[in-house]
Amino acid sequence: MKMPSVTRKGFALSLAAGLVVAATQLVSVGSVQAGIKGSKHDLGSGGTSQLGATATTTEVCVFCHTPHGSNTGAPVPLWNKSLSTASYTRYSSLNTTTLDGSEAPVGSVSLACLSCHDGSQAMDVMINAPGSNGYNAAGANFAGGVSMTGTPLPNLGTDLSNDHPISIQYGGGGWKSADGDGASASTTLKDGSFKAGVKSTINANPAWWIDTSVGTANVRDKTDMVLYTRTLSGVVQPFVECASCHDPHNASTAGASSVAFLRISNTGSAVCLACHDK
Ligand code: HEC
Ligand code: HEC
Ligand code: HEC
Ligand code: HEC
Repeated sequence: MKMPSVTRKGFALSLAAGLVVAATQLVSVGSVQAGIKGSKHDLGSGGTSQLGATATTTEVCVFCHTPHGSNTGAPVPLWNKSLSTASYTRYSSLNTTTLDGSEAPVGSVSLACLSCHDGSQAMDVMINAPGSNGYNAAGANFAGGVSMTGTPLPNLGTDLSNDHPISIQYGGGGWKSADGDGASASTTLKDGSFKAGVKSTINANPAWWIDTSVGTANVRDKTDMVLYTRTLSGVVQPFVECASCHDPHNASTAGASSVAFLRISNTGSAVCLACHDK
């Protein structure tokens, strides 16, 4: 290998620059480990998912996203899977005396999660498999993978009555004003025992979330409890879905007292207290 000739000063500088690069790499390696690569949501051969050992690709994102030809059946970014067609037993079927909010059909990002987590289809079913000519509009099993196992966790099954309500209005019946357009005062919620949310407009679409103490106030960070815009009885309003509490890429919350893929660590029940004023 031909070494570039450098002056002593130049060498010292490049050594220093090298150290900076090494330090930066250390930092970025740390953040990669806290991300999705190598996590339980890495279904490629480098991951620790139930499929990790048998998957025949090193790709990570492809099990959920494709850059082209994605499934627009649910508003989930560039979704590469067929959505589950299962029918679900809902939380409301318990008929607890406290539930106030209305449920919309199981949908939005929750249906994307349930495309693996209800155990009804193989986890490597995808629309656009890695490489050329891998497209199959109906979705096809990529490497002979299997459906999720384990009940009730991580395979929730199709009985969702033993899970926190999803596809449910926020605020115990939603924002008071008809268009869901609440200011950030808790009086705008039907049930005052919920934390006030923030509403913003992005590309002319309404966006709602609950600020947590992590991240910047009044900015929709990934560490906030994100609410999902849905239409129920003709009213566009905010809903709680799986990804309100979970960020499917963030493995950094995994630890002795918490599971991976939460938006924030649940230490001290911080996830619950972000929404419930208890
Ligand atoms: C296990 C499924 C899964 C895998 C694997 C996955 N994602 Fe995602 N991703 C999702 C879901 C679900 C959403 C929507 C999340 C939401 O609504 O907040 C999303 C949203 C996104 C978004 C938009 C929102 C954001 O967080 O910025 C980007 C960008 C993204 N994913 C990139 C990636 C990349 C890059 C990879 C591979 C390194 C990847 N994802 C792997 C499930 C996955
Ligand atoms: C993103 C906001 C949000 C977060 C975070 C959240 N909840 Fe909820 N929770 C709701 C909504 C909305 C309802 C529906 C309430 C209603 O309509 O009456 C609900 C309902 C409930 C109910 C009552 C259901 C009933 O039958 O009345 C319980 C109990 C509950 N949540 C516990 C929790 C716990 C425990 C956590 C933390 C693990 C948590 N919640 C996190 C929004 C949230
Ligand atoms: C492509 C399939 C797939 C999709 C889509 C998917 N998951 Fe997972 N998920 C898995 C697998 C595999 C595991 C690991 C199961 C195991 O270890 O037994 C897992 C584990 C988890 C865990 C447990 C982490 C832990 O520390 O134990 C959570 C939480 C989770 N997923 C949430 C979600 C949410 C929320 C969504 C949607 C935003 C989602 N997943 C979408 C495949 C998927
Ligand atoms: C209201 C917040 C909230 C919602 C909504 C929610 N989760 Fe969770 N989920 C949590 C919390 C908090 C934990 C961690 C529980 C623990 O530490 O044992 C968790 C844990 C999990 C686990 C791992 C459990 C374990 O102990 O192995 C899976 C898998 C999971 N969630 C999937 C989902 C899916 C799929 C959906 C949507 C159908 C969903 N979650 C909706 C808050 C939520």
